[in-house]
Amino acid sequence: MNLKIYIETYGCQMNVNDSQVAAAILEKAGCSVTENISQADVILVNTCSVRDNAEKRVLGRLEVFRLEKKKREGVIVGVLGCMAQRLKDELLKNGNVDFTIGPDSYRSLPAVISYIRDKGGKMTETNLSSTETYSDIDPVRVDSNGVSAFISIMRGCNNMCSYCIVPFTRGRERSRDPQSIVAEAEKLVKEGYKEVTLLGQNVDSYLWINPENTTDSVNFSQLLELVALACPDMRIRFQTSHPKDMRKGVLYTMAMYPNICPHIHLPVQSGSTRMLEKMNRKYTREDYLEKIKAIREILPDCSVTTDIIAGFCSETEEDHQQTLSLMKEVGFDSAFMFQYSERPNTLASRKYPDDVPDGAKTERLNQIIALQNELSLLSNQKCIGQTYQVLVEGPSKRSDKQMTGRTPQNKFCVFDAKDTKPGDLVYVKILTCSSATLMGEIVEQPKTLIEKAEDTIEEGLHEIKEKIIKSIARNKKPKDNE
Ligand code: 5AD
Ligand code: SF4
Repeated sequence: MNLKIYIETYGCQMNVNDSQVAAAILEKAGCSVTENISQADVILVNTCSVRDNAEKRVLGRLEVFRLEKKKREGVIVGVLGCMAQRLKDELLKNGNVDFTIGPDSYRSLPAVISYIRDKGGKMTETNLSSTETYSDIDPVRVDSNGVSAFISIMRGCNNMCSYCIVPFTRGRERSRDPQSIVAEAEKLVKEGYKEVTLLGQNVDSYLWINPENTTDSVNFSQLLELVALACPDMRIRFQTSHPKDMRKGVLYTMAMYPNICPHIHLPVQSGSTRMLEKMNRKYTREDYLEKIKAIREILPDCSVTTDIIAGFCSETEEDHQQTLSLMKEVGFDSAFMFQYSERPNTLASRKYPDDVPDGAKTERLNQIIALQNELSLLSNQKCIGQTYQVLVEGPSKRSDKQMTGRTPQNKFCVFDAKDTKPGDLVYVKILTCSSATLMGEIVEQPKTLIEKAEDTIEEGLHEIKEKIIKSIARNKKPKDNE
């Protein structure tokens, strides 16, 4: 099947990775990926259903694909991902769509495309699986920067947060075998990648049980350790953590391995325990703050970022104020902030009226965003004068004399390029900042604490030696107190 495939991706990092899996499956069947839509025989759009506006954006794109179909006869349009899973053949009624394939059915892509090409018609493949992890598929990292890559370590979600559509579109949680995860990370090292992010909806509930010996298992902190040991020169990140499941063991593992980046994305969603209960998050405000305390104790230089929903069902002004006060108490380094968007068939849509007026939702979201801007600025200001190891990702959008990269805490950083290239690890001293960006200059690698201690000892020894030499020169025994 020698077809040109164009893929557009919306939504989370998991979708970016899934598009790479889909590309790999199609390349294996003889297709090639093109970045030019006007050359494509097949247009794929990998979609997100998490909020209504994400779906609307895709529906808008489908209109653009209609034009491509008009221009060239035989062009096939397929919808992948969460919208395909949620809407199934309903989407096929849209004249622009030839097939829908859900997140667990990408292996059927070549068969579906070749059937439609040969015989015409429309198809939908949306069976959810309890075992599919695509562990044998080596993702084709089409739109990657060659420096930083993602590895899916699990799929699906069992949490049933009442507002969330993900458990319905991505199915039951299942963990991928650790051998294939480590092998994929090692392969990335060989290909020159310098950073890998381990992906899951809730990485803290990663649990692989050996099917041949069920007493043999690997949990998330063990997996982190396996990857950190196998790839000591690779930066390791992970997301997303869940406050109800994050254990101290993960924090200790992070503290033990310098190549595991000190950054935790820990979505809080709300600062009100009453809202958290309605959201079915299974932790209280106090539980969340306890987790933050543990992070601060075990990993003092760790950054913490979060997700927040404004205007969930029955949220009062008092609940909203609790969110603002929790944000201040934690001092998040950055956050993704959303208005609640009711999703069909979720627990919340069946049980609770979406009763916060749109105006109030927007007003609360704006207050949350304004506060987070202040907190992000404060957090960045604390970096001024400090030196961070930065992984260079590429030139800055504003000037090719400047490079960009990220600190271990995942803070975006801009600095004069000098002779650096993507993939280099440099040390950057921070000079100024905005709420979104650190700006600095490349400096020499700062000394470690041990090196500093060695310097002090050396200086002391040197001083003693000088005194002895002087006293010998004066031909007298050094006094005891010298
Ligand atoms: N409305 C608004 N935001 C949502 N999220 C998930 N579902 C919804 C929804 N129905 C947000 C949560 C989650 C992030 C990925 O998207 O904050 O952590
Ligand atoms: Fe959705 Fe909750 Fe699962 Fe995250 S943990 S994907 S918010 S159900």
